Amino acid sequence: MSILEAIKNRRSIRKYKSEEVDLDMVYQIIEAGIWAPSSGNTMPFKFLILNDLEKKREFFSILLESIVRWKKNSAQKKGISITDLYENYKKYLAGIEKAPVFIFIFLDIEIGAKKFTNGNTDQLTNNNYLHNSLRDSLFLCVENMLLEASAIGLGSLYFEIPRAAKTPVNSFFNLRKSLEFFICLPIGFPDEKPIGKERILHEFLVER
Ligand SMILES: Cc1cc2nc3c(=O)[nH]c(=O)nc-3n(C[C@H](O)[C@H](O)[C@H](O)COP(=O)(O)O)c2cc1C
Repeated sequence: MSILEAIKNRRSIRKYKSEEVDLDMVYQIIEAGIWAPSSGNTMPFKFLILNDLEKKREFFSILLESIVRWKKNSAQKKGISITDLYENYKKYLAGIEKAPVFIFIFLDIEIGAKKFTNGNTDQLTNNNYLHNSLRDSLFLCVENMLLEASAIGLGSLYFEIPRAAKTPVNSFFNLRKSLEFFICLPIGFPDEKPIGKERILHEFLVER
């Protein structure tokens, strides 16, 4: 399969089979991530694999509460009740929660600080330019991982987690503060076959 074919074949998967995924496949996906380009070649990524059923359940209940808290005001303005909001998100998360593995991806601020700010992590996080360039590296890492998952027959998703839910992640896993939670990718066998939206190449070119 050419790289372009692999890119076109990848789809965001929101419904998973609970069928187990071999840990070697998970490592293969992470390996694709660590070969991504990174700012200053820092490779500032750290990964945590979550495949414990009970821990996963606990995480999703924290996530659901945080999303509802986050969306409450805007939903009320649109006339959506809290109960409906809760039920809608519960349904959406249920398909994703079924994925047997989640890869949590963190930005390791200490690695960035070692390279750019003489090890001073506060200086690094307060510098928008440096901080963003490290975060940008994580986007590229994630895209590599999404493509690798798809190429080996697994599904995944860029699964945005609200800021309100990101902060409790470090304490949930009992991790050091300098690991900044970026995103978690569900990994599992797809239980849906979404069709990609058509793209017409010339429509993406700037007219001159
Ligand atoms: C920055 C970013 C944030 C996203 N957040 C979510 C999300 O929170 N939930 C979700 O279901 N999909 C999310 N997606 C996936 C997009 O909805 C998806 O990529 C888009 O609809 C195109 O579908 P495809 O990935 O199958 O091509 C996100 C994608 C990106 C790049």
